[in-house]
Amino acid sequence: MKNNYSSKMPSIGGYLELQLPKGEELYPTLLKLNTGRNAFEYILKVKRYKLVHIPYYTCEVILEPLKKLGIQFQYYTINEQMDPVLDFVIGSEDCLLYTNYFGLKQETVIRLSKLFDNLIIDNSQAFFSEPLENVDTFYSCRKFFGVPDGAYLQCTSDIRLKLVKDVSVERFSHLIKSIDLGIENGYKDYIANNRSLSNIPIKRMSALSQRILSGIDYKTCKYRRNSNFMYLHDFLEEYNDYSFDASSVNGPMVYPLLLSSSEIKNKLLDKRIYIASYWPNVLEWTTNKMYEHYLTTHLIALPIDHRYTHSEMKRILNVLKTIL
Ligand SMILES: Cc1ncc(COP(=O)(O)O)c(C=O)c1O
Repeated sequence: MKNNYSSKMPSIGGYLELQLPKGEELYPTLLKLNTGRNAFEYILKVKRYKLVHIPYYTCEVILEPLKKLGIQFQYYTINEQMDPVLDFVIGSEDCLLYTNYFGLKQETVIRLSKLFDNLIIDNSQAFFSEPLENVDTFYSCRKFFGVPDGAYLQCTSDIRLKLVKDVSVERFSHLIKSIDLGIENGYKDYIANNRSLSNIPIKRMSALSQRILSGIDYKTCKYRRNSNFMYLHDFLEEYNDYSFDASSVNGPMVYPLLLSSSEIKNKLLDKRIYIASYWPNVLEWTTNKMYEHYLTTHLIALPIDHRYTHSEMKRILNVLKTIL
């Protein structure tokens, strides 16, 4: 006898599944894709730009889609405010890619949006910065939350690519290992899983990443980031060579501390305070006279994320106080 119930119907019974809180994503109306770099590729495919101006100061994975699609690119420099030095012309078939550095550059994003139509904003470091209307903008979720992958895209074109859904279960091991075995024991897997994101096709966001992203309390995460950031800033502002307007912080990625001393990272490492490097590839792309080179070697990206409270910030400051 033919089964009346289609195999598409959800099953009933069986073992109990991993239970994640059900809520709403932060950007429910944006396109959901598998990686930030692929969201960039999506824009390039539908907008058909011929030349892309990219900052020297960015992650090398940004080149993946440009090389894949055979699109020409030119590097540009940034100044001490991390704003683009606009000493070049952006032609009608060109576009400008700008990174909202550390989630602190929304004012520059607004300014650039008034100057240029052909603009792409990389909000991989600015998850909480809302996309501006009529500006192509992408986000990478794993920089802010414990997900294997996932990206959001605001694409101003009406053209839509037909895509299959990604599956990210094979990139998940570091996230469960960190719970059961500790974060340091998951590090090897984190590196391997990161590598496995290279040169994968554009797909829709996996159900796994989307489910996790639906269960996050974004309000609390943003609040913790702002509070930790300001706690550090109150003490570090007078030492920080990078000056910025802290009055409108909006869930930034890290606290960027720029100092001329280069021994600090190791001192923090000795105390098991890990500092990510933004971005090692910049040292290959630039000469040591360039500001981007200096930023890469001297900017200390202090963690301020939702896992932490002022007690961890105090620990960080105590180490820094021995040096400053
Ligand atoms: C500035 C920046 N943009 C884009 C990306 C790409 O994001 P994803 O790893 O999700 O492709 C990264 C990091 O990988 C990044 O650091």
